Parts: sequence; structure tokens; C-alpha cells
Amino acid sequence: MLARNCFLLLVAVSGAALAIVCFSLQFFNLIPTTPIVEERLLQAADGDVRLTQGKSRKRVFPKPHTQKPNPLSEAYGYCNTPSHNEQAWEGHIPADYKLLSVQVMIRHGDRYPLYTIPKTKRPAINCTLSISRNPSHPLLGAFISHMGLGGRGHWESTLASLPRLPNHSPCEMGDLTQTGVVQQLRNGKILRQAYAPHSFVPSDWSPQQVWVETTGKSRTLQSGLAFLYGFLPEFDWKKLTVHHQWSTLFCGSACDCPARNRFLEEEQRRQYRLRVADEELERTYADMASTLGIPTRNLRVANPIDSLLCHLCHGLPFPCMFTKDGSTNRCLSTAQFAVIRRQQLDDEKDRKRVGLYRKYAILAIYPYLNRTANKMERVAKVAAGNRKPRAGGEEVFTVSSAHDVTMAPLLSALGLEEARFPPFAARLVFELWKSPSVKQGQQEQRAGKGERSKAKDGGFFIRLLYNGEDVTYHTVFCSPLDRRPSQPFCPLKKFLSFVKRDIFNVVNATSYQEACYSHTG
Ligand SMILES: *[C@@H]1O[C@H](CO)[C@@H](O)[C@H](O)[C@H]1NC(C)=O
Ligand SMILES: *[C@@H]1O[C@H](CO)[C@@H](O)[C@H](O)[C@H]1NC(C)=O
Ligand SMILES: *[C@@H]1O[C@H](CO)[C@@H](O)[C@H](O)[C@H]1NC(C)=O
Repeated sequence: MLARNCFLLLVAVSGAALAIVCFSLQFFNLIPTTPIVEERLLQAADGDVRLTQGKSRKRVFPKPHTQKPNPLSEAYGYCNTPSHNEQAWEGHIPADYKLLSVQVMIRHGDRYPLYTIPKTKRPAINCTLSISRNPSHPLLGAFISHMGLGGRGHWESTLASLPRLPNHSPCEMGDLTQTGVVQQLRNGKILRQAYAPHSFVPSDWSPQQVWVETTGKSRTLQSGLAFLYGFLPEFDWKKLTVHHQWSTLFCGSACDCPARNRFLEEEQRRQYRLRVADEELERTYADMASTLGIPTRNLRVANPIDSLLCHLCHGLPFPCMFTKDGSTNRCLSTAQFAVIRRQQLDDEKDRKRVGLYRKYAILAIYPYLNRTANKMERVAKVAAGNRKPRAGGEEVFTVSSAHDVTMAPLLSALGLEEARFPPFAARLVFELWKSPSVKQGQQEQRAGKGERSKAKDGGFFIRLLYNGEDVTYHTVFCSPLDRRPSQPFCPLKKFLSFVKRDIFNVVNATSYQEACYSHTG
């Protein structure tokens, strides 16, 4: 009901200028990152909500609009409200191909705001779980019971002390909501169904075949567990180790990179200059502040867009100035909200044009990409018989439960800069496939290019999927021009040589070390 009111309001208030722009809500959430310098800078980037063009929330790459767009459906694209018509192209490959491994990065699910707008009531949301509350999921009850047995699992460093289920009523800052839990149960179940015919995780999987890692926030830990439960219901806790990534960049022991921080500082300065030059935005902040009777500065640091997004995603009316008797007509408006997002569209364009973020992104996410590539290469070598299998099996399934500040640089570094900003519970999937061994007769029939290139690439292929859509041929390492009937998939080798070498072209270097340390001028 509330959602419908909100929709009418949006349509009514967004005028002609906005009618041609679909909303794609985007927001950098501001989790502390390390090193410290990034924390400071990311905080300066508050309320990074952007607009992109597009008409369907199901599209990873928004298309130029051809008919009147629906702003709310775009807004819900960011909210990622559970619906019944999820697309999922994971696992869609000819049956004679063999799936060898899957590595997934997820953004945590829907969460409570990280900020409070002064003089307003916080959104009333209950962060305990209840199967009788919407949205719910058939696995929710069993998931809640299963989390109760979590003491049997192995937890790295401080993770054991985090709650395995959201448990605050009302929610506290940054808590995963029930919507967030349901989003991840769905994500996991979608992949379970997609991969059911391929059985690449044996039912008696060994501890080293499944790798789960998360940052030290309860929302990522809980998101990772819900995702895993959707994928492997009733998994055996005793076999599970939950690994801790202390940095939101998942950079492990390779986090030191002075040049990365320099690119980020420059990027933030660019962003700041653009923002303060935007008179309409400045006026809007001033209007919003005067509506609530607070200094503009106080409103700005309260990062109002974060709270407004939460209201929107939960179908709650926008907040009003708090008065003791509850009577007020001084409320924040969708028009103001729209201005902030219009500015973010400009920011996004400018960001791509300038290219500093891309450079930051490459250095930020390289250690994760390197690790991902290494895992794939290892599994491929074992499958090709070029490497001795580990006792207990290879790592075939990885879940990295992360933040938008992890996934956004990953998308940028892969060249997926047109992809929509990671919504809640976004998922990026790396699939590794082996082609069927070629039979004699087929080989003669199809003799030529295709078979030769298969011999060359060893018969291993990578697919990349973002929120269920195959984006392999949107990446920098696989060009659509290379796609032929004889070779419909992207050779693993292309990804490996990208990660080992070509990725550093953008920063005019040949290695991570060189890129991080040599260009300090
Ligand atoms: C939150 O939900 C739980 C479970 O449904 C319920 O027991 C509790 O009373 C709710 N809290 C509030 C403040 O409504
Ligand atoms: C990349 O992976 C290799 C293993 O192939 C490792 O030796 C190296 O330290 C990794 N580099 C980074 C920066 O993670
Ligand atoms: C790239 O690096 C090389 C060697 O370090 C240097 O000579 C050249 O000027 C650099 N180019 C740019 C565009 O920075």
C-alpha cells in the first residue's frame, strides 16, 4: 500500500526532465575500509547515489529508453526487492560441457541505514526474523534453526562473536534486515537450481572444496551464511570454516599500495569539485536543511540519501521533522531526492570520462582477481592432468560476502563500467567450464580453426554473470569479435593473461608491485 503511494508521488513530482531518466539508485555504503586513508576518503564520498539511463531493472546494461520509463521500477532495481521472475543464466551451457568451479562475490542484502537524519524519526523496521512477516522464504524457518547450531562451525578471528542472525528490534545502524536475509536465501537457491544438473560440488563435499569468506560486519557474515544455506541447505557445520577478510577490498596480505590511495584521493577531489559546482544540488541541501530546521552542514554529514533509500526500499513515506505531538507538514520530498540523484548521474559520467576511478579500481581489486584467477588455473590444470590433485579435492565453490565498495571496483576493473551499480544482494559469478573431449569423427568434420583454437586454449572456458545476466563479452578481456560459432565461449587463457599482465596497461605498468610503488610522482 505504502509502496503504491510512494510510486504515485514519484511520478507526480518527477517532471519532464526526469521522465527521460530512469532511476538506478546507487549508493556507496560507507563501511570502514583500511588503510585508514581510504576510510577518510570514502566518508567524504557520502551519499554517492547515481542515476543511469535504462528502462528495465532486469538489465545489467541499461539500454537507451524507447518508451516511457518507470522510475519506481528502476529505484527498486537498487532495492532488489525479492520478486518471482528472477533471471538466472548461470549454468546455461551445453550439457556436454563440464562445470569445474564457481566463484561468487555477493554484496550484502538490504540493510538499515548507516546514518540518521537529525530531527527525524528513524525508519521503523524490525530486524528480528519471523516467517510470518513479508518478505519471507520457504527456507527461512529452517535457516533460523540451522544458524542456532553455528557453534559447531569454525570461525576465523573475531567472526565467532558476531550474531549469525539479525536480532535487533528495532533495527540498529547497518543491520541486515529480513529482506536482506531473504534476498540471499533466494540468491543461493537460484544457483543451487541453476547448477543442479552439473553437480560440481559433491554431496559429500570436503572442507577444502567450499570456501566462505566475509568482512567483519554482521551484515556480510549473515548474508554469506544465508547465501550458503540457500545453496547448500542443511550444510554440515563441522566441515565449514568461515574466513575473515579484514579489508573490504579482500586484499589479504597484499593491501599495501600507495598508488591506489593516490588515485582515490584524486578521484575524491574530482568528485568534490563537481559537487560543489552544482548549484541546484547546493540549493537542495539548503532547502532540506531548512525544512528540518538544522544547519546545512549537519544535514550533509548525515548523508540523507542513505536513509531516504531505506524509506523507499521499504515503502515508507519520506521522513518529516520530528515534533512531540507528531503533527508536522515539514517533510523531505522525492523532488529533493531526485536532485541528489541527478547530480550523481553527472558524477558517474564525469567519473568515467576522467578515468581515475578505473585506475583506483584496478589496484584495489587486483589481489582478489589474482586469487580468483589462481584458483581457476589450478582447477583447470588438475582437470587437464597437468597437476596432482590435492588430497580432499580442489576448491570448487567460493563465496565472498562483500560490500558495494568491493563490488564496484571489481566491475570497473573487469571493464564492466556500464553495469549498474551493485544493488543490495548483487551477485557476480565466475564459472569455469571444460569443453567435452572431441571425438575422432567430429574432429574431422569440424577440422580447422575451431578445433585448433580449442587445442590452443586447452578447452577451458570462463563465463561471467552479473545478477544473472551473462556479461562475459562485455568485459575487457573477451571481445565479442572473438566470438565464433566454432568457439562460442571465452577461453580461460584470456582471463588469465588479463590478470597476469594486461590489466596493468591502464596504469602504465606491468605488475602490481610496479603499479603500486613506482609511479609516485
Ligand atoms: C519484532 O518482531 C518480533 C518477531 O515477530 C516480535 O516478537 C517483536 O515484538 C517485534 N518488535 C516490535 C517492536 O514490534
Ligand atoms: C598473485 O598470485 C601469485 C601466485 O600466482 C602470488 O605469488 C602473488 O603474490 C599474487 N600477488 C598479489 C599482489 O596478490
Ligand atoms: C609509462 O611508463 C614508461 C616507463 O616507466 C614511461 O617512460 C612513460 O612515460 C609512461 N607513460 C605514461 C603515459 O605515463
